[in-house]
Amino acid sequence: MNIVVLTGAGISAESGVPTFRDADGLWEGHRVEDVATPAAFDRSPDVVHRFYDERRRMVQKVEPNAAHSALSRLEQMVGDSLLVITQNIDDLHERAGSRRVLHMHGELLSALCRACDGRFAWDDDLADFPPCPGCGYSELRPDVVWFGEMPYELDTIDRALQKADLFVSIGTSGAVYPAAGFVRAASAYGASTLELNLAPSEGSHFFDETRHGPAGTLVPHWVDELLG
Ligand code: APR
Repeated sequence: MNIVVLTGAGISAESGVPTFRDADGLWEGHRVEDVATPAAFDRSPDVVHRFYDERRRMVQKVEPNAAHSALSRLEQMVGDSLLVITQNIDDLHERAGSRRVLHMHGELLSALCRACDGRFAWDDDLADFPPCPGCGYSELRPDVVWFGEMPYELDTIDRALQKADLFVSIGTSGAVYPAAGFVRAASAYGASTLELNLAPSEGSHFFDETRHGPAGTLVPHWVDELLG
């Protein structure tokens, strides 16, 4: 059975990583347009760098939770039959042991050079405009996909959705496309669909089954059930 799991900010919430769409509509006190668009970076690269530098430091201090671990356990049992597509830019899936993970919105621990297009593992700040390890120009930006930019790996994702027997969405609000459309694509390709989320997402009604509660409880239960 091929399983495709889509994860969002909710799976990392119990690790202490804040989600995006809190009640006040701000993302850690910033309007998303002020920090997560190419225009924001062109306008004030220092503000955007400081924002992501802070998140990069924070993410290195938190730990994966029971939901990340359960997905890693599932991969150990079913191997290549599981693919995790994450919208998250943290590395908590990998640190929990998952290997088959696609970061469709990029990674905090990576820097992208605007001069040479190189991508480099990066755990340090960028606000001091360090030189690119590839070409030497000080043109590094966070290797994250901003609003208005094309997510990574969309072809691979579509192929995985075509082959999926089961599509499971965990901890995502279903507010951001194209990820929000994966449930309908998977359904159209013939997969069963399941939502595991704290509260009904915007696309809850597109799923065959929905379960609501914290990911740290729901995901281990679901994995136990599956491995029965
Ligand atoms: N367990 C399960 N779900 C949770 C938990 C939890 N402990 N805590 C919160 N959630 C749910 C919320 O109910 C919400 O539906 O997780 C979801 C988080 O939604 P968002 O904050 O919108 O995050 P996400 O869906 O990942 O955002 C998508 O938006 O800004 C962009 O690029 C960014 O990848 C991000 C994308």
